[in-house]
Amino acid sequence: MDIRPLLIILSVCGQMQAITVDTDYGGLPLQIDRFLGEPTVFTLRNRVDSSWSWMVNNQDCSVKCDCAIQWPTALFCDHKGLEQFPESLPSRTQYLFLQGNMITGFNSKALANTTNLRWLILDQNQLLSERLDGRSPFNLTQLVNLFMNHNNLTEVPAGLPGGLKQLRLAYNQIEKIGPGAFENLQNLTLLLLQGNRLKTIGETDFKGLSILNLLDLSQNVLDTFPKHLPPSVQQLYLSHNAITGMAEDSLQGFNRLCYLRLRNNQLKNDGLTPGVFNVTSLVELDLSFNQLTEIPFVPTTLQYLYLEVNHIREFNVSSLCRTVGLTSYSHIKILRLDGNKIKYHQLPPDWVYCLRILQNIYI
Ligand SMILES: *[C@@H]1O[C@H](CO)[C@@H](O)[C@H](O)[C@H]1NC(C)=O
Ligand SMILES: *[C@@H]1O[C@H](CO)[C@@H](O)[C@H](O)[C@H]1NC(C)=O
Ligand SMILES: *[C@@H]1O[C@H](CO)[C@@H](O)[C@H](O)[C@H]1NC(C)=O
Ligand SMILES: *[C@@H]1O[C@H](CO)[C@@H](O)[C@H](O)[C@H]1NC(C)=O
Ligand SMILES: *[C@@H]1O[C@H](CO)[C@@H](O)[C@H](O)[C@H]1NC(C)=O
Ligand SMILES: *[C@@H]1O[C@H](CO)[C@@H](O)[C@H](O)[C@H]1NC(C)=O
Repeated sequence: MDIRPLLIILSVCGQMQAITVDTDYGGLPLQIDRFLGEPTVFTLRNRVDSSWSWMVNNQDCSVKCDCAIQWPTALFCDHKGLEQFPESLPSRTQYLFLQGNMITGFNSKALANTTNLRWLILDQNQLLSERLDGRSPFNLTQLVNLFMNHNNLTEVPAGLPGGLKQLRLAYNQIEKIGPGAFENLQNLTLLLLQGNRLKTIGETDFKGLSILNLLDLSQNVLDTFPKHLPPSVQQLYLSHNAITGMAEDSLQGFNRLCYLRLRNNQLKNDGLTPGVFNVTSLVELDLSFNQLTEIPFVPTTLQYLYLEVNHIREFNVSSLCRTVGLTSYSHIKILRLDGNKIKYHQLPPDWVYCLRILQNIYI
């Protein structure tokens, strides 16, 4: 029985469509996030009546875990006060939920038989990098999702399995990534590193990530716009850092970039080269909560522009439209300028010809 959910994502910038054909999650009331292709619940607590859902005799279940008849390949060991991996995990396990425990390291023996593992969820534990050292259990060739958010890691774990599609390391204490840390992760599409302590990104830190789509580096301590990011990214999140400027080539070659978020940084106009956001694939640009005094030059294809809470004093139409004509106008639908130093009556008379399909403007 193949119980993988069939997920088709047709992703064209700005027009995301996701169809989930949830063939068999065993009848469990499990909802799949249509965009990320993952369940919105990682626990059975309070979701099913324990009197009918747990396996009792016919199939083995680890002592500390719950096993649901309806989803035999999943093992629910979340929020059980575990300090270690449960012992003798059944080899049928494909989905292992271990979040909300006190696990500090791996036990390669416990995972020896789970060669079919596809998801390993270890959010909210106390994983320590020194306890992963050299004893990485990652002989898991089927593993696609590895979640280790909210742990105590200071480094990116070594020896990650090459088949990973999602790696979540948000809210740890990672200070640097290290050369080639993701080198063999050619299938990775999503990498979360927000809420760490990254100050710089090295030249080869992201080497090998050739199809990465979403990269979240928010809530770190980056003081310059990082170079050497994977040019395949479509969603790049850098909010809540200390970035003061961007070089002319910061976004050069990022031909698929749709969503760029730089909220809550320290961007000033003199730190930005005028054409830096001239990336025609951009759909959304968030520059709110910075120190800009002018509206930066943006491509006319942009649809969402967030500039609230800056120090902008004037509205210059030429930042949004080079020329105004039958076919040349800005595609902005939402423009936020509230919390700046301009008033609605100060808008130049020709702005309506430029912002022709605007749905909302906040001033
Ligand atoms: C792995 O499977 C083998 C054969 O079924 C069994 O003897 C062994 O105890 C299992 N190991 C663990 C750690 O569960
Ligand atoms: C990894 O798995 C392969 C095949 O499943 C096995 O032959 C090999 O011994 C395993 N390696 C380790 C280090 O467990
Ligand atoms: C992990 O970090 C938390 C919060 O900083 C701390 O309370 C806890 O003691 C740490 N755990 C270990 C095993 O160091
Ligand atoms: C990467 O994905 C492709 C296509 O799904 C697959 O054939 C390949 O085995 C994967 N690579 C690894 C290292 O698992
Ligand atoms: C913006 O990019 C377009 C397309 O790449 C190019 O034709 C145009 O000259 C650029 N404009 C500026 C001001 O850099
Ligand atoms: C608007 O910006 C353009 C290009 O930066 C500049 O040449 C022009 O003088 C500005 N207009 C106003 C009214 O400030």
